[in-house]
Amino acid sequence: MTDIPIPSSIPGSESAGGLENLLTEDRRFPPSAEFAAQANAQRDLYAWAAADRVGFWADQARELLDWSTPFSETLDWSGAPVARWFADGKLNAAYNAVDRHVEAGRGDRVALHFEGEGGDTRTLTYADLQREVSKAANALVALGVGTGDRVAIYLPLIPEAVVTMLACARIGAPHSVVFGGFSAEALSSRINDAEAKLVVTADGGYRRGAASALKPAVDEAIAKGTPSVEKVLVVKRTGQDVAWTEGRDVWWSDAVDTASDQHTPVELEAEHPLFILYTSGTTGKPKGIFHTTGGYLTQAAYTHRTVFDLKPETDVYWCTADIGWVTGHTYVVYGPLVNGATQVIYEGTPDTPHRGRWWEIVQKYGVTILYTAPTAIRTCMKWGDEIPGQFDLSSLRVLGSVGEPINPEAWIWYRRVIGGDRTPIVDTWWQTETGAIMISPLPGVTETKPGSAQVPLPGIAADVVDDEAHSVPNGGGGYLVLTEPWPSMLRGIWGDPERYADTYWSRFEGLYFAGDGAKKDDDGDIWLLGRVDDVMNVSGHRLSTTEIESALVSHPWVAEAAVVGASDDTTGQAVVAFVILRGGGGGADRSGEDVQKELRDHVAKEIGPIAKPRQILVVAELPKTRSGKIMRRLLRDVAEHRQVGDATTLADASVMDLIASGLAAGS
Ligand code: WTA
Repeated sequence: MTDIPIPSSIPGSESAGGLENLLTEDRRFPPSAEFAAQANAQRDLYAWAAADRVGFWADQARELLDWSTPFSETLDWSGAPVARWFADGKLNAAYNAVDRHVEAGRGDRVALHFEGEGGDTRTLTYADLQREVSKAANALVALGVGTGDRVAIYLPLIPEAVVTMLACARIGAPHSVVFGGFSAEALSSRINDAEAKLVVTADGGYRRGAASALKPAVDEAIAKGTPSVEKVLVVKRTGQDVAWTEGRDVWWSDAVDTASDQHTPVELEAEHPLFILYTSGTTGKPKGIFHTTGGYLTQAAYTHRTVFDLKPETDVYWCTADIGWVTGHTYVVYGPLVNGATQVIYEGTPDTPHRGRWWEIVQKYGVTILYTAPTAIRTCMKWGDEIPGQFDLSSLRVLGSVGEPINPEAWIWYRRVIGGDRTPIVDTWWQTETGAIMISPLPGVTETKPGSAQVPLPGIAADVVDDEAHSVPNGGGGYLVLTEPWPSMLRGIWGDPERYADTYWSRFEGLYFAGDGAKKDDDGDIWLLGRVDDVMNVSGHRLSTTEIESALVSHPWVAEAAVVGASDDTTGQAVVAFVILRGGGGGADRSGEDVQKELRDHVAKEIGPIAKPRQILVVAELPKTRSGKIMRRLLRDVAEHRQVGDATTLADASVMDLIASGLAAGS
C-alpha cells in the first residue's frame, strides 16, 4: 500500500484507528458463475452509463416508470446546486408503486407480508394495497389535505404506515415521517418546520413484547404549540387507552375504512416534492431533506433492481429498516413497490420473543434478499452462530448492508453464517441526502472485498479528494465527494436554500461534500471511513453532537457539555458526553449515579432514547482552542482510552491533564 498522508480530520488517520485493519484486508470473493449468468446487472452497464451518463438515466426513467406525460428534457443543472430531472414529465408515485401492477394483471401478487411483533400477520396483495391506498387518499382529502400540504407520520412499522405514505404520494401531499423513537419535543419541532396540517399516528405499537404508546407524544407535541396542525388521524393498533381531543382527533377506522376505494391518482410534475425527512446535521437543528418525484423514483427503482438483483416474480425481499429512516423510504416503500416486489415487513425487535426471530421470519417466508445494518449483524454475531443455525436460511441469495461502515469480521460472519458461504454481499453507501444507493458492488459482477463499498454505481460519479479538492491517487485518503448530479439527489433543505448550498456545496467548488472520510485502495476501490464532521453514527442512526450538547445544557444541572462519538464494538459509535456541572445547588452536589441517570433520561426526553449517552463523564474543564472551539478530537481520545493526541492548539494545555487525572480519581 502506498504511503500517502491522510488529512488528520479523517477517522482512522491516527495509527490506533480502524484503518489499519482495513489496509491489511485482502480476502476476495469473486461472483459465482451461476449467479453471474442470471444477474440483472452485467458488466456492460458501466460502459453504457459512462458513454452517456445523462442518456443512461433517461433510459432508466422510461424503462422503470410509467409517465402520464413523457419528459423531453432529462437534466437541467443550470440552477446548480439544485438539479431538475425529467422536469417537463408528469407522473404519480403511488400509481407507479401500486396501480400499474394491478392494471398489468399482477393484482394477486403479494406486496406485503406483515409480521407483527406478537406474531399476528397480514397479507396485502397489490390489489389490496390499491384499495387501501385509495381509501386512505380519499380520507386525507376529506380531512382537508390538498396537493402540496404536508402530512406528518408518526407510526409503528405496520401496513398503515406504508398505506399512509402512498396515500400522501397519491394526492401530492409531501409526507414527513418521524421515527416513532423520537420524543414529543423532536416531533413538535419537525411538525412546525414542515408546517404539517395533519398528523397520522397510532395508539401505540409493540416493542420488546409490550405495547408502547405513541399517541401521548403527539398530544404533547401539539400542546407545545403546532399552529399548522388541524387533525390527528389515529390507527388503533394496541387498543391501549388514549386521550382524545374532540374535533381534532379522528379514528382511522372511522375515516379510512368507510371511505370509497376508488381514487384517481393526481398527475404531478416530476419535480413535485414527494417527501421531507429530517436528519441530523452539524448544528443543533435537524435538516428537512426534501426529495422530489421523478428522479427519486427512477434511482430508487434502478438501484433496488440492480444492487439486489431483484426478480419480482420469484424473490421475497426483506429490508429490516423502519420507515422512519431513509432506508425505509427508498428500500421498504418506493423501490420495492415500484418494482412490483413481494416483501416482508416486521414490526418488532430481533430478540422478541427470542433471539432467533429474524431467522425464523426468513425461514417462514422464504426470504431471498435481506438488507440490514452492520449493528444488527454484529449483535447477532455476539449472540452466537447456533441461533441462526437452528433455522433454514437456504432461500437467501443476496445480502445487503447499509448505514455505517461494516468491519471485515462482521462482513465475513454475515456471508458465512447467514449466507451459507454462498451469497454475494452488497455493502451499500448512501445518505438521506442522496436518496438512493450511490456506491456498492453489483452482485454477479463485482469481486467483493469485505469492508469496502467499492465502486460508484453505473450512472454515479464519486471521488476521494484531499483538502485542496484534488483527486487522490490510488492508495490515498481524503473526503468522499460526488462529482456529477444524480437523479435522486436532495433538492434542498426545506425552507433553507442557503443552508443547503452551504452544507454540501461550499467546501469544494462544484463538488457535493458528503461529510464522510474515504480511502482508495490500490485498485481504486472506495473504503468508507466514517464521518469527518460533528455527526455521529450510532447503530446506523445519524445523531448530531451539537444537538445532544444542547439537550444536555438545557438541563439546569449542566453548565457546559461536549459530546463525542467513541468507537463501540456493537453500535459502531456510542455517545460519550463530557459535562461540567453547576455548583450551588446544581448538579455538582449530586452523586455520580444520580447525574448519569438524570442526564441520560433528560436526553431521551429531549431527543429520544436513541440519543442517550452511553457514558457521561463529569469534568472540571473542557479542552478549547483559543477561539473557544471545543476540541472533540482530544475528548474522543479520552473516550476511546487512547493516548491523547496533539494538544498544542489548546488555549490551556493543562486541561487534558486535569481531565485525565479527574477521571482517574473518579473511577
Ligand atoms: C454512513 C443511511 C459506510 C455514512 C442510508 C453516511 C455508511 C451516513 C454506509 C448516512 C456504508 C451509510 N458504509 N458508511 N455502506 N452507509 N453510511 O443519512 O457516514 O442515515 O454519511 O443514510 O451513514 O446516514 P443516513
